[in-house]
This record gives sequence, structure tokens and C-alpha cells, in this order.
Amino acid sequence: MSREKTLEILREATPAILPSLLLCDFGNLEREIEKLHEAGFKSLHLDVMDGVFVPNFSYGITIVEAVRKLTDMPLDVHLMMVEPQKYVQQFASAGADLITFHAEAVDDTRPVLEAIRETGIAGGIALNPGTDVSMIENDLDLCDVFLVMSVNAGFGGQSFIESVLEKFSHIRNAPNGDRILLEIDGGINTDTIGQAHAMGVDLFVAGSAIFRQPDYRAAHDRLLEQVGASNERV
Ligand code: DX5
Ligand code: ZN
Repeated sequence: MSREKTLEILREATPAILPSLLLCDFGNLEREIEKLHEAGFKSLHLDVMDGVFVPNFSYGITIVEAVRKLTDMPLDVHLMMVEPQKYVQQFASAGADLITFHAEAVDDTRPVLEAIRETGIAGGIALNPGTDVSMIENDLDLCDVFLVMSVNAGFGGQSFIESVLEKFSHIRNAPNGDRILLEIDGGINTDTIGQAHAMGVDLFVAGSAIFRQPDYRAAHDRLLEQVGASNERV
């Protein structure tokens, strides 16, 4: 879908929980997506890992394509890979609606943001916990989303790093920062989501807090409750 449509859906859904499919049952992908629909989620988060930028492999373009065929929900594709610019067009054609890539993985973030804009979908920058937020300040005009990692990218199920939260106020107050959707990823659960929400975060990625629970709807409800929102019945 167009960048405008994706941003409209995401804005409307905030505060929104985005399930990270990393821990889902890929042998039953269709059923998993159906269950996530039934649980009231409005967008899905897909983690692409190349074994180089992060010490772990996950999946790539073919899984984005497969998920695209199973849902109309906006697909938020988080690229944890070197040279993301080489694959932006392919991920967009595969059905990504939003692409974030890591500032640490490129020499210059601007041409990558421009390449994403050219495809017509939404885009943004992701930062690992140790990366200074000032390195992306000049490119905020091209960012639709700012993704703060609250664990070091690479694996699900890690503990939340609270000190990253200050990055959000920095971006919100920077020139061009006020219209950006703020997203957090890593260690989000019912104990940590409230702190992130208090910092103005709009989009909360959650893996284990959903997929290690028996009932996705109940897991979604519990997370939404912590951010003062409720789940519309579908
Ligand atoms: C980590 C990924 C996350 C991860 C989240 O590199 O980007 O999306 O799957 O999983 P939890 O919620 O378990 O930390
Ligand atoms: Zn992610």
C-alpha cells in the first residue's frame, strides 16, 4: 500500500502492538496470521537477519511475500543486514509497507531513506542501544518512523534495556521530529511497556510476550491495558 495509507493506518492504531513473527510457527504460517488477526493486531513486524550485521539468520524476501499473500495488514519490515540499499526495491515489491534499516549498517543513511521513498512505501531508521541518536538528526525529514532497539538486535527473548528510552525525547524535540512515529523493539512485555509508553512511543514490537503465550488475544489485551488502550472486538 502507499506510504500515506500505511502511515494513516498506523497512526490510527496507536498505541499499537506489533507482533514480531520471529518466534511464530512458520510451519503453520497461515493459521498464525489468522490467529493474530483474531487477536486484534493491526500491523505485523518482520525481522530480517543476515548473519553478518547480526550473529543470527532469520528469513528474507520469500517470507515477506508469503505473509503478504495472507494478510492486508501493513507489514513493518526491520532489516538487520549489511547493504540494505541493495534490497530495498525487492522488499518493497515483495509487499513490505514500511522498511526500517540500521544506521550502524550503512555509511550514510540518507541515500537509503531516499531509495525507500522512491519505492513509494514508508521508511525509517533503527538504532541499536549503544548508538548515539545524534547521528541521524540530519535525516529526520525523510524518516516516517524512528525505531529504537531496547535490546541488541539479533535475538528475541532478551532483557529490556531501559536507558535507551531517552532517545525518544531527543528525536521528538529535534527539528522535523514531531511528526515521526516512534517505535520500540526488544524486551517489551507487561512490565516494560508502560515505561516506553510514558516516553511517547507509538508502536511497540513484541515477540516473546505474544508467541510464548497460549492465547494471543489475551496477551494483546494485557499489553494494551498497560498503555491505557483497549482491543476492539473483531
Ligand atoms: C530482535 C528483533 C525483535 C525481537 C523481539 O533483534 O528485532 O523484533 O524479535 O522479540 P522480544 O519481544 O522477545 O524481545
Ligand atoms: Zn525487530
